[in-house]
This record gives sequence, structure tokens and C-alpha cells, in this order.
Amino acid sequence: MGLTVAVTGPTGEIGTAVVRALERDDRVERVLGMARRPFDPASRGWRKTEYRQGDVLDRAAVDDLVAGADVVVHLAFMIMGSRAEGERINLAGSRNVFEATTGRLVYTSSVAAYGYHGGNPVPLTEDVPARGSKEHYYSAQKAACERLLAETAAADEVYVLRPSIVAGPEATILLRNLPWEPVAEHIPEPLRRLLGAVPGLKPVLPDPGTRFQLVHHDDVASAVAAAVAGDGPPGAYNLAGDGDIGMGDLARAIGAYTVPIPGELVSLTAELVDLLPYIPDKLEWIHAARHPMLMDTAKARRDLGWAPRYSAAETLKTMVAAYS
Ligand SMILES: NC(=O)c1ccc[n+]([C@@H]2O[C@H](COP(=O)([O-])OP(=O)(O)OC[C@H]3O[C@@H](n4cnc5c(N)ncnc54)[C@H](OP(=O)(O)O)[C@@H]3O)[C@@H](O)[C@H]2O)c1
Repeated sequence: MGLTVAVTGPTGEIGTAVVRALERDDRVERVLGMARRPFDPASRGWRKTEYRQGDVLDRAAVDDLVAGADVVVHLAFMIMGSRAEGERINLAGSRNVFEATTGRLVYTSSVAAYGYHGGNPVPLTEDVPARGSKEHYYSAQKAACERLLAETAAADEVYVLRPSIVAGPEATILLRNLPWEPVAEHIPEPLRRLLGAVPGLKPVLPDPGTRFQLVHHDDVASAVAAAVAGDGPPGAYNLAGDGDIGMGDLARAIGAYTVPIPGELVSLTAELVDLLPYIPDKLEWIHAARHPMLMDTAKARRDLGWAPRYSAAETLKTMVAAYS
């Protein structure tokens, strides 16, 4: 008998790739997916997958989903939104899943769980504590979720995957939330001009020189499939494609250009974002550009047998090609 796998958030950017990988995996017999909006698995040609509408905040719905599952993959999360909404869905919802799962649990954390600390080693290994950054709701909640998991997990085996920014033809969150546009409207005009964001010209991205990693959604999916099958020991695994990119690479790929800005200005703006009232929580993402967050992925390659097919540069290319 193959595995029965329950998946929260199977319709998201990662979830779609994960279910596709599980559909192809002979070790998996049945997939049960749950998210809030209506969805028909047949619309994607999925044959092993059943879908039900449900909210991870509803403990009974979670209990019902995971009952009888050999493995639970927890992906349901709110990434771009408000701190308060995130606390509800990300913390309370994840708690329900962590407490309800008794078999094997695979949870996608994030590089953000490490927190944006100047003293972080480069690259980050899984031994570095996932401290989060309290000034960025997503980072703080990702770290809090890992703590919650350590305290509450009822599962026999827990896999915590920490992907870098996920991209690809079906994961365009980076392009849809480019850092300049939302920040620009809240920055005083003289500073905006200094940064070169002159209306009517090509989009301008601020470039603090920070490098970052990308991982293709299909490569995250292959890591999830390996964890689902128990291919390596339980534990935490960093996930990123080979190489890294900077704002310049991103700007060139989308026909924008960059204006170099000193790291101190990013820090200053980030501090302003923290201080000013009525600033949307979305702007807290500026903290992500303060320090390089480059991860060492040797452990996933060695212990999970994970071999990402796409480098950061190739992942960027596939995302931009699909978006334009
Ligand atoms: N994308 C990235 O760059 C990235 C990087 C590192 C880690 N991660 C992590 O990977 C996981 C999946 O991310 P993603 O990019 O696939 O996110 P996504 O595209 O925003 O998808 C989120 C999924 O969760 C579902 N969902 C949200 N709230 C729910 C709720 N209350 N109850 C049930 N389902 C709910 C959504 O469907 P409905 O809205 O219909 O409910 C959707 O299926 C998250 O934990 C994220 O933090 C993502």
C-alpha cells in the first residue's frame, strides 16, 4: 500500500508543484488537499488527489483532513498580508496542524525564520538558531512557528524545510511584490528623487547590493516528496538553487534598472518603517534587504538526496519568461 498524504494549501504557488510531484511519485497512493477556495483537482489533470474546502483555523476540519493520513504536508500560510492576520492564520492555524498530526509531518518554513541579523554567518547552516526578526512579521512568525512546532508537535517524525525565495513560472510572488513600488509612495519626495524614482521612466529598483538565492518551485516540490517518503532523517533542511542573484540581475531580466543605494540607507528606511505609524505591514519586507541571507544547502543534498535542477539564474529566467 502506498502513502496517503494530506496537504494543506495544495493550491498555492508551492502546493501546486508539490501535488504535481506527489501525483507522479509511485510511493504515494492518495493525496488529500485542503484550502479555503473552491478548486477541482481534475482541472489540473490530477488523478490521485481529492480536494475539500476547509480552513486550518477550524480544528475539526484539520482533524478530519489528517485522520488516516500517513504524512501531512503543511503549506497553508499567509505570506503577504498583515501582522494580525498572519498571527491568526500562521500561528493558530499551524498549531492546529502541528497538534493534530501524528504520523510524519513536513512543514515548509523559510530562510526568513533565521532572521535578518548582521551577525548571521554566510552561508547559514541548519545549526544556526531560527531566531526570526521581530520587526518583520513574516520572519517573526516563521521563527515562532518553528518554536511552536518544537513545543507542540505530536508527529513521530518532523521535517522542516527552509526554502529561499521560491520562483518559477508558477511562483511569481517576487515579481508581484517588487520592493520599490510599495515603498516609493511612502518615502518623502526629496528622498525619492535622490533614489532616482522619477515617474514616467522605466521602473527603478533600489539596489543595496544584497545578494539573494532563489529556488524553483519544482525543486522545492522534489524536496517535499523526498521528505514525504522519509528519504533522509527528520530534521531541518535549507533549500536553494545553485548561485545567487542581486537586484541588478532582476532589473535586467525585467527591463528595469537599478539605483545603487548604500546599505545604511536601507537600514535607515527600515528603521523609519518601524517608527512611522499607519505604515502598511507589507513595508516590513524592507528588512529582508538589510543583510545577505545565503544558505548552505549541503545537508539536503547529502541526507535527502536532493538535487535541484535549476540554478538561481535559470529560476529567474523561467519566472520572467512566464510573467511577460
Ligand atoms: N513563496 C515563497 O517564496 C516561499 C519561500 C519560503 C517558504 N515559503 C512557505 O511555503 C509555504 C507555501 O507557500 P506558497 O508560496 O505556496 O503560498 P501561497 O501561494 O500564498 O499559497 C498559500 C496556500 O495556503 C492556502 N491557505 C491560506 N490560508 C489558509 C487557511 N486559513 N486555511 C487553509 N488553507 C489556507 C491557500 O489557499 P486559499 O487561500 O484558497 O485558502 C493556498 O493554497 C508557506 O508556509 C510559505 O511561508 C514560501
